Amino acid sequence: MPDVVANMPDGTTVSFNDYRQGRHNPEFSGLVRQMPGLTEGIRSNSLLAELIKFDFAQTAWNEAELCWPVHVGVHLLKLSVDRPGGRAVASPDMLHQDGEPYTFAHLIYRRDAEGGENVIATPEYAGNLPEAVADEGILDRFVLHQPLASYGVKDDLVSHYVAPVTVADGAETAERAVLLIDFTPMAQRA
Ligand SMILES: [Fe+2]
Repeated sequence: MPDVVANMPDGTTVSFNDYRQGRHNPEFSGLVRQMPGLTEGIRSNSLLAELIKFDFAQTAWNEAELCWPVHVGVHLLKLSVDRPGGRAVASPDMLHQDGEPYTFAHLIYRRDAEGGENVIATPEYAGNLPEAVADEGILDRFVLHQPLASYGVKDDLVSHYVAPVTVADGAETAERAVLLIDFTPMAQRA
């Protein structure tokens, strides 16, 4: 259920939900962030349902965890740059862990975007930029180019990062949108 409903200037209504990451995002440590809720159209999107089922099929749980309903987090995140020379930065702008046991990322689209490289490192590098990581600490680095190009992390095994997005040569603006799906047994949610 939405926690807050706001009337927007254009006459539409947007619901906002509380998003808690505990201490996992040092840029918002211990804070509750308000995120606009999914629209009814996205909630009932059959591709979204398929992606959630596909991602969940990649996860593994112990017997105790399987006793609980699983909370599914769904986030649409867009990095948007409105001028050449600008850049859009994800939060946190460093290697980090999310706190949810599993998170999957699916590229929705990227348009005229440079950068946005994903880096996966060993967990002890959470809090650092990839440049500070020894070669053996980097497990993978890649760029999601095609719509629905995807990756998943088991959060306790790795830290992860996405580099800022900039505008490609010759373009005026850039965007990169990803869908994040995470899974948490409800026993773990205070
Ligand atoms: Fe993250």
